[in-house]
Amino acid sequence: MALYSDKVMDHFINPRNVGVIEDADAVGEVGNAKCGDIMRMYLKIDDDIITDVKFETFGCASAIASSSMATELIKGKPVSEARKLTNQAVAEALDGLPDYKMHCSVLAQEAIESALENYENKS
Ligand code: FES
Repeated sequence: MALYSDKVMDHFINPRNVGVIEDADAVGEVGNAKCGDIMRMYLKIDDDIITDVKFETFGCASAIASSSMATELIKGKPVSEARKLTNQAVAEALDGLPDYKMHCSVLAQEAIESALENYENKS
């Protein structure tokens, strides 16, 4: 069996929503001290709906695929729904990650959580 699913490869090679939102309503940044990977998440929020989301990930293939999928899962959703996103849901949407790569999906979930905390602290 291949190490990565077709979906992981697709989101790694062709990541969705990469970049920066200059006038973001919220920004979150997290890092994993063990592997050194860093993820930054930018949100545009209108009337409690996430109207746009972009990310920058300085990290491994799974981290890039996880952040790409996570942005797809929360785009257009209410803040309350994005808050409930779990790293398992991100990994499942990617048709799974190897066990030792699950922490990469945690980073994506934490980046969103960090951005949402930033948003809630402002409002
Ligand atoms: Fe660090 Fe994937 S190895 S996030």
